[in-house]
Amino acid sequence: MSTPTHILTHTQNHVGIVQFNRPQALNALNRELMAETMDALEAFDQNADIGAMVITGSERAFAAGADIKEMATATPAQMLDNPFIGYWDRLTKIRKPVIAAVSGYAFGGGMELAMTCDMIVASETALFGQPEINLGVIPGAGGTQRLTYAVGKALAMEIILNDRRLTAAEALHFGLVNRIVPVDSYLDNAIQLAAEIAARAPIAVQMAKEAINTVYETSLQAGLAHERRLFYLLFSTEDQKEGMDAFVNKRKADWQGK
Ligand code: CAA
Repeated sequence: MSTPTHILTHTQNHVGIVQFNRPQALNALNRELMAETMDALEAFDQNADIGAMVITGSERAFAAGADIKEMATATPAQMLDNPFIGYWDRLTKIRKPVIAAVSGYAFGGGMELAMTCDMIVASETALFGQPEINLGVIPGAGGTQRLTYAVGKALAMEIILNDRRLTAAEALHFGLVNRIVPVDSYLDNAIQLAAEIAARAPIAVQMAKEAINTVYETSLQAGLAHERRLFYLLFSTEDQKEGMDAFVNKRKADWQGK
């Protein structure tokens, strides 16, 4: 893998952190940035020392959407041939939890990227929007679907058809984000949340993520059956024996991820 040029990565307390680094374009998501982001997240997903991940931008912009300049003159055939939108699909294949730490603009593909993550920690200045209608298009990386699941049809219609933007307070009110944090500590807060999850039983965390995400893919009955199978499967892990023994013997569990 070559050295990334559009992102910064580091690790802290078993958390893998990806920070978009295109400030001159408000972190507009171009092909290189998305490729580097997904390569980094997939590497963290394979790294046994990492239990959760955070993706973030800058205080001014999480990401102002897909790079408009990159696609302005594209033909449908070129868009079809371009793996670009597939990067959001790759994010859904990450097994460990991914938290978006969002400050400033989270527009278009940026909002879609945050919504594809498992949780969102928002700074007080976070502003969410799907302004694609102003460009003569619609959201193309899941916005019409994930936003509607998250906030319901009426509000999703207003946001996507009429460029209604959501402040952090509104996003919290409508269940889009987990919490609002002052701008000087939103990233630390997201990393702390990720570190807390990373300290838990790793296989159970991954199964829990998989089970919750099944809600978006299937019927209630099929989802319940899937949950039950994952629940039973966890009884084959050493962590289940350890966790229940620790409870019975009133001691702290020592998770091995086995
Ligand atoms: N793509 C490419 N460049 C972008 C960009 C984007 N999405 N958003 C901002 N930039 C660039 C600007 O062109 C500008 O570059 P120059 O200095 O070279 O001109 C720089 O970032 C700073 O932007 P502004 O001068 O516009 O900053 P502002 O503070 O006045 O406005 C903003 C900020 C309201 C976010 C405004 O930049 C804006 O509206 N951006 C576009 C938002 C948008 O439409 N996003 C949807 C993209 S389409 C999409 O995402 C499709 C999909 O579903 C996958």
